Amino acid sequence: MPKLRIAVVGAGLMGHGIAQVFALAGHDVAITDADAPTLATARDRILTNLTDLGDDVTAVERVRVCAGLGEAVAAADFVVEAVREDLGVKQRLFAEIERAARATAILASNTSVIPITAIMGGLGSRERALGTHWWNPPYLVPLVEVIGTRWTSAAAIERTIALHAAAGKTPVHVKKDVPGFVGNRLQHALWREAIALVEHGICDAETVDTVIKAAFGRRLAVLGPLENADLVGTDLTLAIHKTVLPAIESRPSPSPYLEKLVADGKLGFKSGEGFRTWTPEQQAALRAQVVQHLKKARETDAQSR
Ligand SMILES: NC(=O)c1ccc[n+]([C@@H]2O[C@H](COP(=O)([O-])OP(=O)(O)OC[C@H]3O[C@@H](n4cnc5c(N)ncnc54)[C@H](O)[C@@H]3O)[C@@H](O)[C@H]2O)c1
Repeated sequence: MPKLRIAVVGAGLMGHGIAQVFALAGHDVAITDADAPTLATARDRILTNLTDLGDDVTAVERVRVCAGLGEAVAAADFVVEAVREDLGVKQRLFAEIERAARATAILASNTSVIPITAIMGGLGSRERALGTHWWNPPYLVPLVEVIGTRWTSAAAIERTIALHAAAGKTPVHVKKDVPGFVGNRLQHALWREAIALVEHGICDAETVDTVIKAAFGRRLAVLGPLENADLVGTDLTLAIHKTVLPAIESRPSPSPYLEKLVADGKLGFKSGEGFRTWTPEQQAALRAQVVQHLKKARETDAQSR
């Protein structure tokens, strides 16, 4: 992969991590953010991550901080947006990016669930616009979903997949632009049932999490559900579905149990209580455990290469 010029718009949680991955892969990265204090700390945050991971710290020298959007995207081959999850903000931003960027630059959004069609529909050059959905933290979770709309060219998809694969990511092609793409649809199908189990008094929240972590969660990193279905047999899977699916939650709207938690101000870590109660020490311990787990997985991936 030749050295490219990458522009990252938004230097928050996701943006600075995406910039880090591309810089570590040898690309020149320009990063910008509407919030000056966030932009001012972007390089320090990247350097802290690189140091903590034992990665090449000189990568940060390839990250250029730009106060203005035009300056960041003008020379870019690939522009990725990671600003807040708001359709209007993203639409206005891409209109500006399209005017400021070169005609050949690929334009990508890192939206979590908003259809790319809604974000990019107003652009004049929609064949080069697509989604690249990363997972947090971008430098530890391998997957990037590459989402095309009905206008996206095959060449833009191919170039994007090649760029991310060469940067050490695991890109997958999502062929239809549906809300939540693939990852968040799967994840939230599971969360809907998890919440319903608590709502209907079948078990408490801690039990839901224990069942997942101590059972199929153990296998999930190496055995996807469709591999698992083939492993046990599609006939057995069919028999199980005939009994279980009619009993599983299928409502097409958020659970009233979840809505009540939010209405009562039980916002999870933010307020110290959500489905469960959380002291600051418990919150810090869980966060640390997740990062530790992801780091180990990254090491295992590196060893198996
Ligand atoms: N946090 C996650 O786990 C995660 C995972 C995958 C995708 N995403 C998506 O990535 C995007 C960014 O999420 P985040 O968690 O990094 O948010 P964040 O709040 O940490 O960062 C967003 C940044 O965008 C900046 N910003 C807002 N409007 C801007 C504009 N017009 N121009 C330039 N900068 C602007 C803000 O100042 C902020 O620094 C969202 O669309 C989110 O849904 C988040």
